[in-house]
Amino acid sequence: AEQPLHLQVNGRAHALAGVPREATLLHLLRNDLGLNGPKYGCGLGQCGACTVHVDGVAARSCVIPAHGVAGRDITTLEGLGMRGRWHPVQAAFEDAQAAQCGYCLNGMVMQAAALLARDPHASEARIRSELSGNLCRCGTHIEILDAVQRAAV
Ligand code: FES
Repeated sequence: AEQPLHLQVNGRAHALAGVPREATLLHLLRNDLGLNGPKYGCGLGQCGACTVHVDGVAARSCVIPAHGVAGRDITTLEGLGMRGRWHPVQAAFEDAQAAQCGYCLNGMVMQAAALLARDPHASEARIRSELSGNLCRCGTHIEILDAVQRAAV
């Protein structure tokens, strides 16, 4: 029989049997593990809605094969923070009211959190370039930039 897929997600180990070769990490997180933090936007690696961390680095889960990240450390929004114990980036987004429809937001938060983990005092230019691949169709980029700058103290 095929070996189960071992994944480490939000600090918890999972052994998943019968995961198809072509399954994406996004599909597995949402459909098998019930983690809806990562969103399905384009499915092509082009919008950032599905952003998670793989070993602390922002990555697009819609184009990552689930089997390709066996044994790696995956973090979704659910593992970053929760109500009552927000990650500083989440708290800053709330303070800045940086959401309109909110669909892009989880990916934006994950992308920004990964940046600030390696560069806690990231400049505005650095934040802009880091988030340039995360699309927001409502056009709340100014508020989002403000939120990330609040977190980058
Ligand atoms: Fe993954 Fe758009 S859904 S980048």
